[in-house]
Amino acid sequence: MSNLKNKNILLGVTGGISAYKACELSRLMLKEDAKVNVVMTSNAEKFVSALTFQYLTGNKVSTDMYDISDEKISHIDLADKSDLIIICPATANFISKFANGIADNLLLNILLATKVDIIVCPAMNVNMYENKIIQENIKKLKKNGVIFIEPESGELACGWEGKGRLAEVQNIINFLKKKFKNKKLSKENILITAGATREFLDPVRFISNPSSGIMGLCIAEEFKMRGAKVNIVAGHTDVDLSNFDSYIRINTADEMKNEIAKQLKKYSVIIKVAAVGDYKFKKIKKDKIKKDENKIDFDLEKNTDVLQFIGDKRNKNQILIGFAAETDKVIQNAKKKVKNKNLDFIVANDISKEGSGFGSKSNFTTIISSDGKIDKLGLQTKETIAEKIADKVEKMRQN
Ligand SMILES: Cc1cc2nc3c(=O)[nH]c(=O)nc-3n(C[C@H](O)[C@H](O)[C@H](O)COP(=O)(O)O)c2cc1C
Repeated sequence: MSNLKNKNILLGVTGGISAYKACELSRLMLKEDAKVNVVMTSNAEKFVSALTFQYLTGNKVSTDMYDISDEKISHIDLADKSDLIIICPATANFISKFANGIADNLLLNILLATKVDIIVCPAMNVNMYENKIIQENIKKLKKNGVIFIEPESGELACGWEGKGRLAEVQNIINFLKKKFKNKKLSKENILITAGATREFLDPVRFISNPSSGIMGLCIAEEFKMRGAKVNIVAGHTDVDLSNFDSYIRINTADEMKNEIAKQLKKYSVIIKVAAVGDYKFKKIKKDKIKKDENKIDFDLEKNTDVLQFIGDKRNKNQILIGFAAETDKVIQNAKKKVKNKNLDFIVANDISKEGSGFGSKSNFTTIISSDGKIDKLGLQTKETIAEKIADKVEKMRQN
């Protein structure tokens, strides 16, 4: 059965060039057995007609706040009867009005009157999307619990290249399906570490690794969808973490350890995905090393082992999961880590395999549990690996 079956979804359509894609979105939601009601801004009607949505959904399309032809369909009724509201596409204008609490059309009134989750799918020219005012408005909405499905990069209808194209409709459907997934992890308070640590030699130079933080992000999204409270301690990463319950960015392994140590006891599941550097500089130079010094001497020393620290301190009700990126003796090394670092299971990633590793969309993994069980996942997308990890945590909690 589809996760969207019998869900009342209110689709808000605003006046952007990609409004026609909302027709396909409504069709796909209906195919998943959702009940779809469409509300359009008057500018959206310049791009697609209400008749199209009315025909597709079988429901009256609402546009006018002062329409008294159907006394039941007020903005409060529409806000109350939905399980979820999705704005697709969302114009720069609409996002900005919403972020500032403006309510001068039916759709904006509904958004202010609702208590259900609101998902916004921005679509606009790259310069508009990157405009600081728009970014600030998006940030403000995120801070207030509005969920964003990021636009994609590529060729835009206006002829420009860049970020701003509406997310693929199928990806929006996948997101909605996940949103309505079971909430079996709603009692869990999760800590995820993500990204790459940096160890500085002087104020401008450091050693690090190419971890992108994407694997950590996929896990965070999956656990959030299943109802968990998600906290992130992140090293360097370009990914947006503002959709989660809390996040903090750090540089070094020591900073990561100290941040985790502050509240270690409060987490029920800890997933260490961050790529933490194994070595650090013995001495950090206070001032920038000058270019005309012909030779630089430095010594490296063993870095803080963050996973070992957590493994030593954890209690038995906490679930501890590690990640290991290896190029050789993958299983053998991972087995050792499970035991030595007191883990429940480890996700061993063979980064020597094509398509696997830092910055790629997939990983070649094997899950090794403390009871010796081995699950060979092979090459899978990072989203699928995140699902498998969440499934395993759900199972562990059932036992
Ligand atoms: C041909 C055309 C295409 C447009 N496409 C977009 C778009 O993709 N994204 C956007 O933010 N604004 C776009 N606009 C500008 C919006 O239509 C305008 O800001 C309008 O006020 C939005 O109204 P609404 O937010 O109430 O629906 C476009 C305008 C025109 C004339």
